[in-house]
Amino acid sequence: MRSESELPFEDDTFSIPVAERVKRLPPYLFGKINKLKYEKRSAGIDVIDLGMGNPTDPPDPIISQKLTEAISDPKNHRYSVSNGIHNLRKEVAKRYYKKYGVQLDPDSEVLACLGSKEGFSHLCLALMGPGDTAIVPAPSFPIHVYAVVLAAGNVIAIDVRDPNKFLERIAYTCEHLYPAPKVVIVNFPHNPSGTCIEQDFYVDLVKLAKKYNFLVISDFAYADICFEGYQAPSFLSTPGAKDVGVEFTTMSKGYSMAGWRIGFCTGNAEMVRALATIKGYYDYGIFQAVQIAAIVAMRHAEAAVEAVAAEYEKRRDALCEGLERIGWEMEKPRAGMFVWAKIPEPWSKMGSIDFAMKLLDEAGVAVSPGRGFGEEGEGHLRLAIVENTQRLRQAVRNIGRCLSDSTPPVETATT
Ligand SMILES: Cc1ncc(COP(=O)(O)O)c(C=O)c1O
Repeated sequence: MRSESELPFEDDTFSIPVAERVKRLPPYLFGKINKLKYEKRSAGIDVIDLGMGNPTDPPDPIISQKLTEAISDPKNHRYSVSNGIHNLRKEVAKRYYKKYGVQLDPDSEVLACLGSKEGFSHLCLALMGPGDTAIVPAPSFPIHVYAVVLAAGNVIAIDVRDPNKFLERIAYTCEHLYPAPKVVIVNFPHNPSGTCIEQDFYVDLVKLAKKYNFLVISDFAYADICFEGYQAPSFLSTPGAKDVGVEFTTMSKGYSMAGWRIGFCTGNAEMVRALATIKGYYDYGIFQAVQIAAIVAMRHAEAAVEAVAAEYEKRRDALCEGLERIGWEMEKPRAGMFVWAKIPEPWSKMGSIDFAMKLLDEAGVAVSPGRGFGEEGEGHLRLAIVENTQRLRQAVRNIGRCLSDSTPPVETATT
């Protein structure tokens, strides 16, 4: 498992003496796939790209207009403040209260980061070091594992697809591991598996956190992309949550502002302060014009967020119905930007990496192999619903044609 970077690098070795922490990062499993995607695109071949959760739609025009306006003010070109400007933090607190009934102090319980991934990674660095252990959900969004690895911590990956068992195994690990885990990372709606939970999950998690004395980091990246009336619960709206943890949210998904790099860490004041301390050394904050446009987004573009979720729901339906028609199995996700599908039977022996290569090479459809999310992901593919419904239907037709024109691998007899 490794980052979802789009770089076409295949080689993981260096001719210079890089630090041990770089060497601890495993071989680049997406390397071959990204290289082929890059080659195809360079040759002018159309690739339907369902590989990354990278929104293709622009943000609401009101947000971009505000950015343009803010850019023409010379004072916005100076270094900003590392934690985020006060009005932005106030707006985040207001939105949390409106959406989840959570009260946050903008000064001590809200911090802006350069995308939630940056904040998450630096928080792991602020909390963990050699000898510390984090429990992470498996299959895993790569940074959930590697932020801990880069902080020199140990990882215990627990299958998250049955949330009750996930909780049981957290309790079991806390009872039996010495020293006990220091941090538990949760991510619902989950990337890549699409697993969702209800509020009572967090009630139990907070109880465990208090009993076993661990800190919780909730990655709530897909908070805004929910379907059919489901509302993903916020970890912070659980009584006592702020005593034990923080939650990361982002403007990348619901507001389609992925390239703008703006997200938030909210909740436990001491954890927020630990992150602020590290960030105070590493960066000077987000471009101020982006922060101002983000305030406007939260004040005036809530309808656009709902429209974005409705659009993803349509895409989910188009992709799931199409894939089901050609015999694929999957659970329709209730939230998020991904369909997590089982590799259809005659093909599963190929393994997810080779199967994903085949789809890219022969069907012109890029998907993420489940193996890219750890061993638990093998046997699956993750398809991001980032292209429009017409392109998604085209992707299904291409896949169907490619598989019906090919011969599945034969079982090798074992003696
Ligand atoms: C679970 C999860 N967390 C965080 C992120 C990154 O979000 P941001 O753009 O805010 O860094 C992603 C993006 O794909 C994600 O899937």
